[in-house]
Amino acid sequence: MADLTGKVALVTGAARGQGRSHALALAEAGADVIALDVCADIDTAPYPLGTPDELAATAKDVEALDRRVLAIECDVRDSAGLDDAVARGVAEFGRIDILAANAGIWALGKLWEITDAQWEEMLAVNLTGAWRTVKAVVPQMIAQKSGAIVLTSSVNGFEAGAGMTHYVAAKHGVLGLMRNAAVELGEFNIRCNAVCPGIVDTKMNDWPGSYDFIAGHEGGTPQERADNAYHWSSLAGRGLLSPSSISRSVVFLASDDARDITGVALPVDGGHAVLPGSNPNPVRSL
Ligand SMILES: NC(=O)c1ccc[n+]([C@@H]2O[C@H](COP(=O)([O-])OP(=O)(O)OC[C@H]3O[C@@H](n4cnc5c(N)ncnc54)[C@H](O)[C@@H]3O)[C@@H](O)[C@H]2O)c1
Repeated sequence: MADLTGKVALVTGAARGQGRSHALALAEAGADVIALDVCADIDTAPYPLGTPDELAATAKDVEALDRRVLAIECDVRDSAGLDDAVARGVAEFGRIDILAANAGIWALGKLWEITDAQWEEMLAVNLTGAWRTVKAVVPQMIAQKSGAIVLTSSVNGFEAGAGMTHYVAAKHGVLGLMRNAAVELGEFNIRCNAVCPGIVDTKMNDWPGSYDFIAGHEGGTPQERADNAYHWSSLAGRGLLSPSSISRSVVFLASDDARDITGVALPVDGGHAVLPGSNPNPVRSL
């Protein structure tokens, strides 16, 4: 495991799922943690988001690893809130070395049926929220002349996903943000990379409409979600991926082991990205 002793990491979406896992993995590697989450539902996300109790549980579990933690309810759509969280983090810990910009939502909808509100909220959280978070943290890293940023994109950062144009557009945008951050922040010894997870076992895809999507038909079940996930990987025995699998790559990219790596989009997807594309539902005549 990489050594992050003495480092301070800010993680968004830290109440649960991958963000919680990243916070704990970074702490396990030695970092103190500033853990942020909106801890409230968002209108157009079709499933409940993280809660104050879940964020408190993440904080408690970081402390159980003998690391210091600051848990703050903060929406990545709110630049003033992010600036305040950064200021509080720096006041508490003196620095910020690592940013894991992980907060995100997922939703489904055909591109011609997505409402303005659905489109705007998706982009506001998943793309603009990542930019706002980077923008809030970067001045501190520039002052330190060092930093490691890991943005969470998705395999949908480089491939289409039927019925989720707004999510796909946002995650492609995250890779553009990552590449430009790598170029513009390089002179300050700040690296920026992205992880691109395949399908991960979190509450983001554990709700009825998601079961239908993954099963490929209405009336999908949790069991079909689990079973069909194996179709998304090329490696043996990989269905729904564990959040800890993504966290190991986040820790690596955040650490000095990756000191010469910047501008990289790293798929952590069980070999999803190399699967041959095929149309499972071709229309042979109109
Ligand atoms: N689960 C997957 O299959 C999968 C695949 C690829 C990429 N991702 C990405 O991974 C990231 C983490 O998702 P997850 O799978 O852990 O899902 P999750 O829903 O379990 O966790 C997301 C967390 O982000 C928080 N959040 C949402 N909007 C926020 C906002 N505006 N401000 C602050 N916090 C907010 C939620 O409250 C929640 O705690 C997301 O960016 C997601 O798009 C997920």
